[in-house]
Amino acid sequence: MEDQAALARRFRDFGRATSKASPLYGHLSLAIAEDPNVIELLRVAPAPQQIPVLLFAAVHDLLLRGLGSELAAYYPNLTVAVAEGDPYPIFRQVALDHREVLLQTIATRNTQTNEVGRCAYFLPVFAIVADEVGPLAHLDVGTSAGLNLAWPKFSYRYDSQPIINSGSIVVVDCSTRGAPPLPKQLPQLARAIGLDVAPIDVADEEAVRWLEACVWPDQPRRFSQLIAAIEIARSSPPDVRAGDAVIAVGKLIDELAEYGHPLVTTSWVLNYLGESGQRAFVAAVDEVGARCDLSWVVAESPAQTPGLPIPGAPDEEITVLSLVTWRRGRRVVRRLATAHPHGAWMNWE
Ligand SMILES: C[S@@+](CC[C@H](N)C(=O)[O-])C[C@H]1O[C@@H](n2cnc3c(N)ncnc32)[C@H](O)[C@@H]1O
Repeated sequence: MEDQAALARRFRDFGRATSKASPLYGHLSLAIAEDPNVIELLRVAPAPQQIPVLLFAAVHDLLLRGLGSELAAYYPNLTVAVAEGDPYPIFRQVALDHREVLLQTIATRNTQTNEVGRCAYFLPVFAIVADEVGPLAHLDVGTSAGLNLAWPKFSYRYDSQPIINSGSIVVVDCSTRGAPPLPKQLPQLARAIGLDVAPIDVADEEAVRWLEACVWPDQPRRFSQLIAAIEIARSSPPDVRAGDAVIAVGKLIDELAEYGHPLVTTSWVLNYLGESGQRAFVAAVDEVGARCDLSWVVAESPAQTPGLPIPGAPDEEITVLSLVTWRRGRRVVRRLATAHPHGAWMNWE
């Protein structure tokens, strides 16, 4: 367990690092760093989860339950006119007033994401693959709630120009550099399956609320985008299977090969596997690729995935987008772009 001083430092560092991206969390974090009674709430989490964003998500979750509504006035995603003044005294009061609920959340939840904005950089790669091989059978590994499996139901807008499907309640917006080959129409999807070691059921109110709570309140568009994607998923629930990436990937690719060209995606999941797990994952996909044509779109940080065969510097923390193909048993790796972690921009190489 982290000692109080180490946790205080963690809040201070987080506050300094995020004050631009998230003025609300930046400010609150610097105030928490000086407040042992609030820092202490985080100590019920397992050591690797004793991170400021877990406490912030737990308080956000309270607000989404309708508790502590006086604090919601400071959250840009929960109000139309954000209250003026220092939100910390109210944040502190709400956190301490709901201490028991907070401790229960902090002790049992991990931070979670399912980022539909990442479909912005998937789409051109899907089109490259579909142009070559025809209808796609998509397996999203580390799919979370499976929201990105609904990519054909989203609208896409690049550099403010709508290009596909205008009219969806989810509009994936991306600014581009370089010249990404933007498709004029959606690639054909024959079948889609998601795989996750701890999948989120979109019908589970509490689990979905937690996913929403993990979005930073200073990103109201991302927050409403997530809610819209959940609505789409609820109207047509994705086929999400529970299982470990390394163990289940081969079997699911075989299942999908009956429907179309197997296309695997991984976005910000293989960092959870560690280097040996990453190597084992590649070996499992390689094993299928030796006997069946398939493609794998990788959106991961090279610094956090040294076990992948992707060109990238060992300290490259940014999302690198690559396409790995197996054709007649031969594996080819192509690095395509760098991207914002949530898909807000991509730089096509
Ligand atoms: C940061 S989230 C990313 C979710 C999604 N890929 C996206 O881009 O929005 C990582 C996901 O990977 C899942 N995960 C972690 N380790 C896994 C494993 N060994 N096998 C399958 N899924 C895993 C987590 O449960 C979580 O849902």
